[in-house]
Amino acid sequence: MKSQIAITKVNLTENEIQAAVEILKSGNLRQGKKTEEFEYSFAEKIGAKYAVAVSSGTAALHIAYLSVLEIGDEVLLPSFTFIATASMVHYSNCNPIFCDADRETFTIDIEDAKKRITEKTKAIAPVHLFGNACDVEKIEELANNHNLRIIWDAAQAHGTRYRGKDVGCLNDLVCYSFYPSKNMITGEGGMVTTNNPKLNEKLRLLRSHGQAKKYFHTDFGFNYRMTDVEASIGLEQLKRLDPMTEIRRRNTEILNQGINTVDGIIAQKTTIGADHSYHQYCVLVDPDEYGCDRDQLALYLKNENILTGVHYPRGLHEQPVFQERLGKMELPVTEYLTRHILALPIHHNLYPSDMERIVDAIKENHK
Ligand SMILES: Cc1ncc(COP(=O)(O)O)c(C=O)c1O
Repeated sequence: MKSQIAITKVNLTENEIQAAVEILKSGNLRQGKKTEEFEYSFAEKIGAKYAVAVSSGTAALHIAYLSVLEIGDEVLLPSFTFIATASMVHYSNCNPIFCDADRETFTIDIEDAKKRITEKTKAIAPVHLFGNACDVEKIEELANNHNLRIIWDAAQAHGTRYRGKDVGCLNDLVCYSFYPSKNMITGEGGMVTTNNPKLNEKLRLLRSHGQAKKYFHTDFGFNYRMTDVEASIGLEQLKRLDPMTEIRRRNTEILNQGINTVDGIIAQKTTIGADHSYHQYCVLVDPDEYGCDRDQLALYLKNENILTGVHYPRGLHEQPVFQERLGKMELPVTEYLTRHILALPIHHNLYPSDMERIVDAIKENHK
């Protein structure tokens, strides 16, 4: 049996393990100095003025939305994303407005978003999906023209750049996840970055019970704090972010070279001006051209001990929880993507020889 090529793998270094052990030994298990250090280093690395560490990417989105939205506001966002982008709008007492996706870059279709603007639309939450940046310029133009706040979902986009700048330093708010499948991890964990001092303050209040100083509450809030154990891992991971991203880019290049001549396998197109960080390498499988469909290819690869993923098998507009509230709607590109997409392994613990095996298997199955 050939060795398994997994879709994701956590492989902490000795430094990362040691950093966490140091905190465990110290007994400082809550949010403390390490978290502050992590916030500072993260902000510095991506070029944002402020970074606020939280307990998950979901918590990051929740406090980011609450910091700029008011009850009943409408938020434009893609249907083709993870549920937290939309569910946290719901839990901010606002309404997610689902938009279609771009067929090539898989990110939000900005023309479609424009058509859905009403007088209640107050924000847009674009997602840098799979590590590919959205068309930042067009989104900023749309937001400026319609006076919308922007909450960027960068949960999958550590190290992604747009026109040479890290997407984490964009206005107004940028939300990250450090969940173990992500390009950079802490265990559970998240971060919000911003350049706005008022939002920075508000986020810190929302993160911890609205507490301005001990037992003095100027706001309502949550316990969304990160612990120093998580922050200590994050600090070490941050040092490795660039080399880990480079390996993902190298692996991607091998796949691109290998499969771009295979009929019916079409890789996600990188947005013009973007440096993709390849959280996922996703292709569309066209059964007429390739000879079998996405699920059949996934099964073939599984039999070769190559594991794949489907992100996402349904658009959010097709999820029962939203259909019950919003009724049925059609988003044809999103629906096409959900039925044809397949993620192939490219993570930073894989070698060029693994990539060659994937290419060979995809070509072999095509014959
Ligand atoms: C696009 C997107 N947004 C938000 C999240 C939520 O992050 P977390 O799992 O850390 O809560 C994820 C995580 O998978 C994600 O992929």
